[in-house]
Amino acid sequence: MTVGTFTSISLEPPLVGFFADSGSMTFHRVRTAEHFTVSVLDDTQDEVCRAFSGEAGDRFAEVSLVPGRHPAPRIAGALGWFDCAVDTIVNVGDHHLVVGRVLAFDVSAVPRGPLVFFRGILCQLDPTVPSRGIW
Ligand SMILES: Cc1cc2nc3c(=O)[nH]c(=O)nc-3n(C[C@H](O)[C@H](O)[C@H](O)COP(=O)(O)O)c2cc1C
Repeated sequence: MTVGTFTSISLEPPLVGFFADSGSMTFHRVRTAEHFTVSVLDDTQDEVCRAFSGEAGDRFAEVSLVPGRHPAPRIAGALGWFDCAVDTIVNVGDHHLVVGRVLAFDVSAVPRGPLVFFRGILCQLDPTVPSRGIW
């Protein structure tokens, strides 16, 4: 499934997470799985984003995959990926926080931009335009 709520949680131990809707079929699979993989999409992968957020057919048949450390595959061409073991699941309102312990991760050697979802559209991030903050 496509998630926009993916976040880093802890460095020691290395934990990441995302919030899954209670009605998500992916969540029901993750709840009984031992592993999951997060692929971070780049700004050319809007079709992948749409495929994984639309009607659940065989989404994995529509994309090129790369084998990971465990059965959950990585999406080819992604900006980066995290192979995770399911660590904790916490009920939060109508969502569940799924916490994963990072077993392996990497980022693409090619500098590319991430796919951004902003004001209802998929768009690019332009890092050459700084904010007006002090950072
Ligand atoms: C940009 C974007 C971000 C999304 N983020 C989330 C999210 O963080 N959590 C979630 O449960 N659904 C999120 N969704 C919606 C799911 O991808 C969508 O409901 C999907 O069909 C769920 O598939 P499943 O029922 O097979 O798990 C997002 C969709 C888009 C387009």
